Amino acid sequence: MSDFSPQSPKGPLSYAGNWLGLAGIILASCSLLTLLILIGFDIFLGFNRPYLGVLVYIILPGAVFVGLILIFAGILYQRRLQRKPGFKPRLPHIDLNNPRHRRNLILTACIGFVFLLFSAFGSYRAYQVTESVAFCGLLCHQVMEPVHTTYLNSPHARVACTKCHIGPGASWYVRAKISGLRQVYAVLTDSYPRPIPVPVENLRPARETCEQCHWPEKFYGSTELLHRHYLSDTDNTPFEIRMMIKVGGANPLHGPIGGIHWHMAVSNDIEYLPADKSRQTIPWVKVTNRSTGKVTIYRTTDKGPLSAPEQKDVRLMDCIDCHNRPTHIFQSPSKALNVALWLNRVDASIPSIKHHATEALMQSAGAESRAEGLQQIAAHIAGRYPEYKEQTKIEQAIAETQNIYRNNFFPEMKTNWQVRPDNIGHLNWPGCFRCHDGEHVNSTGQAIATDCNACHIIISQARGKEPASSSLDGLPFAHPGGEIPPGIACTFCHNGAL
Ligand code: HEC
Ligand code: HEC
Ligand code: HEC
Ligand code: HEC
Ligand code: HEC
Ligand code: HEC
Repeated sequence: MSDFSPQSPKGPLSYAGNWLGLAGIILASCSLLTLLILIGFDIFLGFNRPYLGVLVYIILPGAVFVGLILIFAGILYQRRLQRKPGFKPRLPHIDLNNPRHRRNLILTACIGFVFLLFSAFGSYRAYQVTESVAFCGLLCHQVMEPVHTTYLNSPHARVACTKCHIGPGASWYVRAKISGLRQVYAVLTDSYPRPIPVPVENLRPARETCEQCHWPEKFYGSTELLHRHYLSDTDNTPFEIRMMIKVGGANPLHGPIGGIHWHMAVSNDIEYLPADKSRQTIPWVKVTNRSTGKVTIYRTTDKGPLSAPEQKDVRLMDCIDCHNRPTHIFQSPSKALNVALWLNRVDASIPSIKHHATEALMQSAGAESRAEGLQQIAAHIAGRYPEYKEQTKIEQAIAETQNIYRNNFFPEMKTNWQVRPDNIGHLNWPGCFRCHDGEHVNSTGQAIATDCNACHIIISQARGKEPASSSLDGLPFAHPGGEIPPGIACTFCHNGAL
């Protein structure tokens, strides 16, 4: 097609007739061939293995691209070698009346078109692959195992990772992929922190992610919650508590704005100053009523700053400030065993099994590896029941406790409930009591609500075989652990073992 010099070599191969171009040709053609075959497989048979997706749509196109660059570099290099003194390079000359030129042009256009078609499909699939749960959750298997396992056991198991972590729009996609590259580097060099630090830096505001599916105007009334506990006594006495939790509403068209989701009502902003990275201590809270412009500041008398903190340190409260574990839920030993006993996966007729199984889980929380933890659990429980007649029940209890361990404890990543605060409630973590603890007061000395009936009412509670006491007006909490000393937070005693 071109005749840019009298000694122009024949055929494209000779332009790249040096080691650089040759390497490029081999790399590009081999990867292109493999790529086309695999894309064919994907179109006609389909595969959903994340590793294959990454190979086909990210690594192989990369190799083709590198090959093309090498060929180009080879051509440039060759041309430099052939350049005579006084030689002036010219652009190729195409003559459409020349049948050879015409043929070559049509051929090039066809190849280009097919190539474009494949790359459009390829980039679409590359986008899909990098968006898939398998890509996010399985590719860096060990790093992501804790979040992936807990995700699969959660109410959001069918919501793609990216729906919460990236959300709609291109700019957050690009941002996520750029920070993803940094993470890939950290994984390759084994320099990532264990556990992965939370809160997630720069998580997209929940208003743009969660609110694609749930939005404050949709909440109303109260929701019934039923919790069944088993005490750590010989009989594993059940303790059942039923309460109406005042989920509340944020839409004036449905009724008065109030209840728990009042925080999210469109007409007010709550901002707060966290005193630590994990936002567990909150010394300063500001409420702005957007319609009246009224501002109320609550601060703790001992630690709260007297003047307003700098705006960059202040966080606007959103869904994640309460629902920080909507899907990566790491159950505490006591909570997980309560469910296992309730569902009869662990037989509640085994004396003190709640106590011993909880103890086994508490101990294995410090294990170095999963194998070691599982072994510790088996040894601990079996060691407590050497004489017990029905050994199959003990074996079943061990197997179930080990199952709890596999689903909630990740020793290689040093991750379990202990490093993953849950801000809903107030039993094992301060949660709501970060602000509703009676110590956050406004300028007139009034504290943020602490009344036990402000957020929920207990409508029924029952211990063991005693008849349940019930009332729709709310009952005072009959604490199974005896009277709670005044001024002592639940978290003082409840750390996951109780
Ligand atoms: C329902 C929404 C939602 C879905 C779906 C979701 N996440 Fe998360 N993820 C969160 C929230 C909220 C946090 C905690 C944010 C915080 O505390 O800053 C989080 C935290 C994380 C963390 C930090 C470690 C931790 O335990 O907090 C990682 C890593 C992570 N998610 C990865 C994933 C992966 C991988 C998937 C898919 C398998 C996924 N997420 C699916 C909402 C979600
Ligand atoms: C793509 C849609 C989608 C997104 C995005 C989403 N969720 Fe959900 N969420 C669901 C579905 C579906 C359920 C289960 C429905 C149900 O149980 O009523 C659910 C359930 C819940 C529940 C009730 C859980 C339970 O135990 O019953 C909470 C709380 C929740 N989501 C909070 C969040 C938060 C916080 C976010 C943002 C980090 C979020 N969701 C993002 C779809 C979504
Ligand atoms: C002040 C803390 C707080 C904030 C902020 C908050 N929630 Fe909730 N949310 C709760 C509590 C408490 C419940 C009761 C369920 C429970 O105890 O598990 C709840 C319940 C829910 C439920 C289940 C509803 C039902 O009727 O059972 C969904 C869905 C939900 N929240 C989503 C959201 C979303 C989305 C946001 C952000 C717009 C949000 N929440 C903000 C505390 C909060
Ligand atoms: C960052 C601080 C903060 C956190 C954390 C917080 N709240 Fe609040 N909450 C407030 C403030 C401020 C008010 C308004 C003052 C008041 O009414 O006492 C309020 C008011 C309320 C109200 C009364 C709303 C009404 O009807 O007037 C309820 C109910 C409530 N919160 C529940 C909860 C629950 C449940 C949690 C935990 C899941 C929680 N809050 C966590 C700051 C917080
Ligand atoms: C600021 C709101 C708020 C206040 C005030 C509050 N609670 Fe709660 N409480 C919650 C929430 C939210 C939950 C969690 C519900 C859930 O498990 O999803 C909860 C759960 C509970 C539970 C059930 C725990 C379990 O795991 O079964 C008990 C019992 C309880 N609260 C007692 C009390 C008592 C006693 C007081 C008064 C000292 C009190 N609460 C004050 C919000 C509050
Ligand atoms: C002084 C220590 C202490 C404090 C403070 C305390 N508890 Fe308890 N709690 C106990 C003990 C001890 C038990 C009995 C545990 C057992 O036998 O398993 C218990 C049992 C319980 C149980 C049922 C047990 C289970 O193991 O699943 C619930 C629910 C409970 N407490 C809620 C609360 C709430 C809510 C608060 C805060 C308002 C609170 N406790 C404060 C010591 C305490």
